[in-house]
Amino acid sequence: MKHYLQFKDLSADEYAYVFARAALIKKKFKAYEKHHTLSDRTLAMIFEKASTRTRVSFEAGMYQLGGSVVHLTTGDSQLGRAEPIEDSAKVISRMTDIVMIRTFEQTKIERFAAVSRVPVINGLTNEFHPCQILADIFTFIEHRGSIQGKTVAWVGDGNNMANTWLQAAALLGFHLHVSTPSGYEVNEVTAAAAPSNASGSYKTFSDPMKACAGADLVTTDVWTSMGFEAENEARRAAFASWCVDRTMMAAAVPDALFMHCLPAHRGEEVEAEVIDGPQSVVWDEAENRMHVQKALMEYLLLGRQN
Ligand code: CP
Ligand code: NVA
Repeated sequence: MKHYLQFKDLSADEYAYVFARAALIKKKFKAYEKHHTLSDRTLAMIFEKASTRTRVSFEAGMYQLGGSVVHLTTGDSQLGRAEPIEDSAKVISRMTDIVMIRTFEQTKIERFAAVSRVPVINGLTNEFHPCQILADIFTFIEHRGSIQGKTVAWVGDGNNMANTWLQAAALLGFHLHVSTPSGYEVNEVTAAAAPSNASGSYKTFSDPMKACAGADLVTTDVWTSMGFEAENEARRAAFASWCVDRTMMAAAVPDALFMHCLPAHRGEEVEAEVIDGPQSVVWDEAENRMHVQKALMEYLLLGRQN
């Protein structure tokens, strides 16, 4: 049994399969063709933090695969009343076939997975957001072909998204440029990237313009992630020079893409002219969450399909 708790939980070869499968699943979805490979399977979705995209993409995706969904939150389940996570895992995984969890500490999802009878998927933790990077790389491939050897610039917080990009660069062999304000660097121990594919690399820059130079993709995220709201004011001040604007995009290659996992704050981490401009692929990126996660759930439950 396989879990998907961090990006490095799948190999480059498995990613190649999942991306190809997601492309097929997307094509069938667009053609209104049924793809009921998970009929009678049930997905439990556990949300301890807010969500729009993750909820809709997993829920709609599971129905489209012929399965069904149970939606739990901290507030409306015993999870919020201190039932041990292991007890919850043992019970939920006896009644469902696959579980998606969005929570705070990565250790929480690891404890759940350790006793779960079914595959567990990370729908975002403080440390990682692998489903989002799965969608981002699929989106890059759709627009520009293979990401291997390309350069991705991460501008902003050294957060769950940045950690996950680090793992992806090592695994899939692309160059990652990261620029964060001082005090908000990526924790390389947490990210503990997968053994590096010889063609991948990771470099930090104090100047975000330099990180963007020659990049094929420029990407950012909110300055304050969920769970860190108390730091909002301090972060606003520290991140003021880390707004992705037209000048930064101009430092990248002329046809560079812009991505943002959303939700976005125009005028903070990104200028409206960039996120709503011609290089932005944020709506494809959001939609692709659903297609890649359908491929992921199918792979975790059924393995490779012909
Ligand atoms: N990008 C993302 O995970 O969005 P939600 O928080 O809306 O799920
Ligand atoms: N880094 C953000 C991503 C939201 C999808 C957060 O954790 O809140």
